[in-house]
Amino acid sequence: MCGIVGYVGKDNAKDVIIDGLKKLEYRGYDSAGIAVVIDKKIQIKKHVGGIENLENLIGDDPLYSHTGIGHTRWATHGAPSDVNAHPHINGDSSVAVVHNGIIENYAELKEELINEHGVVFRSETDTEVIAHLVGLFMKDCDSLEDAVYMATQKMRGAYAIVAVAAKDPDKLVAVRKDAPLIAGLGKGSNFIASDIPALLKYVKEIYLIENGEMVVVTPDSIKIFDENRQEVKREVFHVTWDVDAAEKEGYEHFMLKEIFEQPKGISETLNRRLDENGRIKLDGISLTKDDLDNFSKIYIVACGTAYHAGLVGKAVIEKFAKIPVEVDVASEFRYRDPLVDEKTLFIAISQSGETLDTLAALREAKRKGARVLSVVNVVGSSVARESDDVFYTWAGPEIAVASTKAYTTQLTCMYIIALYMGLARGTITQEFYDQFIKDLQEIPGKLEEYLKKTGEIEALAKILYNKEQVFFIGRGLDSSISYEGSLKLKEISYINSFAIAAGELKHGTIALMEPGTLVLALATQDALYEKMISNIQEIKARGAHVLSVAKEGNQAIEMQSNEVIYIPYCRDEIAPLLSVVPLQLFSYYVAKERGCNIDKPKNLAKSVTVE
Ligand code: G6P
Repeated sequence: MCGIVGYVGKDNAKDVIIDGLKKLEYRGYDSAGIAVVIDKKIQIKKHVGGIENLENLIGDDPLYSHTGIGHTRWATHGAPSDVNAHPHINGDSSVAVVHNGIIENYAELKEELINEHGVVFRSETDTEVIAHLVGLFMKDCDSLEDAVYMATQKMRGAYAIVAVAAKDPDKLVAVRKDAPLIAGLGKGSNFIASDIPALLKYVKEIYLIENGEMVVVTPDSIKIFDENRQEVKREVFHVTWDVDAAEKEGYEHFMLKEIFEQPKGISETLNRRLDENGRIKLDGISLTKDDLDNFSKIYIVACGTAYHAGLVGKAVIEKFAKIPVEVDVASEFRYRDPLVDEKTLFIAISQSGETLDTLAALREAKRKGARVLSVVNVVGSSVARESDDVFYTWAGPEIAVASTKAYTTQLTCMYIIALYMGLARGTITQEFYDQFIKDLQEIPGKLEEYLKKTGEIEALAKILYNKEQVFFIGRGLDSSISYEGSLKLKEISYINSFAIAAGELKHGTIALMEPGTLVLALATQDALYEKMISNIQEIKARGAHVLSVAKEGNQAIEMQSNEVIYIPYCRDEIAPLLSVVPLQLFSYYVAKERGCNIDKPKNLAKSVTVE
């Protein structure tokens, strides 16, 4: 949530910063701004809307400078507007600050600054408080880092901030507290950013900044200090993603590119965890058979799409490993005094590894003694670092706000975890395990084939795009996929969509069925196929327009459906890896037909680092 970039070095700061901000727009795009230091004066340009508005505002102005900071915003305090856009400056424009997060005591600090120092505020943001505080401390401090340190001593909340000062140019000072921050190590140029994609074009050597640390960045050095202002030595982290991974590579949208990258993501995630004989490699994971026997309960906690991966995780872990699993949305988990103890395994799922709700739930579980295993896409992210063990998904960077390849790689991890546990606990046989692994390994190829036939879904979207509400129904694992399909559609097309277990329809929701109501009915579970057909008949009898998703070979459904999308045949447990794909594509093409901003839907952000 909010993206920040800072640069100090040989090149024109403006160009590097704008380029980096474009890669971070998935974090927020309500407004964008930049501050550069030119001849010991700070110049600011900022504008409501996406980076293109900022670029238009800058026009031909070279803004030539070697030091600068930039920001792309997801509004929390104050509406999206030019004046609320970051960077924020103090009264005499000698300090500029960008910020990601929330300063919880900003109202108190603002009152103090107004009453005791006569500060005049320009914006409604919490961030402006930081600029004034640093500006005030700068008067008495020898350096920008001293002033920033003093300011942070007064601030409460979650933040990543970067500051520049006219009087101390050629330097950036950044602090991380519960919001992501990395520093990029170049040659004669150094960087700060919220996330790796911003810097991929420039550097592959990264320092992951820890909570509470301050970073002082000059063209020749990056120095990291802990909360007690002691310098710390940090290993360089080598990024393996290439520049193309953060580019569209000819696709119209990142979302479409990422849907097509799913076969690769799934096979990469499998390959990283399977040896040549199909045995699971737990490299770097310390869970033993004794640990697994000791757990009396598992919690899977996550948000949004990752939560939906957790629903599938619950079904397969309970089925294979016979351990009770509860799945919860992270924002609810920690406020309900969950029954967690040393016999609990807590599994956090998060693409970004920075979602604040998930992180807070993880900390709560740890505090109560749980063992924490996380399923994370971003290497070195906060969730990964705070977990006892990490299962990485190898989806590569996911840029579109609506999650696709992260989801299918999260599902892949869930299957591996469930199989591993089942085998270790003796609750599945070696034969079952071997067959399941083989079936999983066939999925990338099946998906690859399936993705050659997207025209069918595009054509359906062209007919059905103008519905005002859509229902998704399914039974068993199909009901989990319904939730994900419904979320995708509402996220990017703004259609009011609703998912419900098909058997539950008759207990209320069926009252909403009218002639023409669009229902996406998932019927990929052989064991529940006939029951599902009955549920479809019930809504068909009320005039619903039924678009079904079924496995090849299960043609009987055609009688009850207006249209059927067939996915390649596979075993029931694995069907989610395939059935979600037509739903992703349907949402994509519907949103496209409706002229929506697919990669950056309104009001959303990819990485939600506020509660
Ligand atoms: C936001 C995004 C969703 C995502 C959720 C969890 O709400 O818009 O697409 O599923 O956060 O994100 P995470 O990074 O923790 O998986």
